[in-house]
Amino acid sequence: MPCTRAEVIILVDDYAGYNIRGLLGQHGLSVLVKVLEKSGRTYKVLLDVGQDSSALIHNSKLLGIELHDIDVIALSHRHYDHTGGILGVLKNIDRRVPVVAHPDVLKPGIVIYESRVDFNAGLPCSESELRELSNLILARTPMQLAPSIWWLGEVPRATSYEKEPDWSYTVSEGKLIRDPLKDDTGIAISVEGYGTVVVVGCSHSGIVNIVDHASKVTGEVPKAVIGGLHLISASDDVIKKTISDLRRLGVEEVHVGHCTGLKAEALLAIEFDEKFKKIFSGYKVVFGSK
Ligand SMILES: [Fe+2]
Ligand SMILES: [Fe+2]
Repeated sequence: MPCTRAEVIILVDDYAGYNIRGLLGQHGLSVLVKVLEKSGRTYKVLLDVGQDSSALIHNSKLLGIELHDIDVIALSHRHYDHTGGILGVLKNIDRRVPVVAHPDVLKPGIVIYESRVDFNAGLPCSESELRELSNLILARTPMQLAPSIWWLGEVPRATSYEKEPDWSYTVSEGKLIRDPLKDDTGIAISVEGYGTVVVVGCSHSGIVNIVDHASKVTGEVPKAVIGGLHLISASDDVIKKTISDLRRLGVEEVHVGHCTGLKAEALLAIEFDEKFKKIFSGYKVVFGSK
């Protein structure tokens, strides 16, 4: 059921921007989605919570945004820069808010690059700590968070060029094994008279796979993409294929930052022209009736 109006506000991004003095940038992402449903009811959904709650709470205060009435928190995937603020935010809200995530969000997150090994890349708290402060809902299949908002669940990986991350590992039954981050997903907002807005965290499932999946879940054209596209180390060829497939799926505007990467942002800016926006802490875009 499409909403009448959707506001998407970036509460935390790597880039602090320059519009409002005092907002903090932090490597991570947190996005507030506020929708006005046809019934007249408003829903507030928080996708991701940054790497700790300090920037999120500071920026929300400065932007005059109330966190206490958030209806649901969704986690795009396990990485610390998207989940690290979870306990702090839940304590701040002081209510058992539903937290929706894929079950793999609880798996240990280990990152192994040539130059770096990080054993603490995942959710920085235990399942029991999370359950103590929230109503934790773990699911693999898409789920409605509000009449107009879908959490997309596990994303089928269909494209040949969006490779599974070869730097992502976990530990299972005493063994260090590769982990494809199946928990990586996003949300889709259906807006009356517009189409679907897809909001993502890091796009480890592949942004084209996520957008394609979103269009199947909502049955609508995915017109806008917002968030991090994780093309930071992608080749020119992969970036160009990504842009061409986003266009083919019907994407008309992109609002990106976080892990998108400078070269991908430059190529997206050339392709989408004034429909390309770089996001930052405090960035806001409205869809539907203004
Ligand atoms: Fe990220
Ligand atoms: Fe990530």
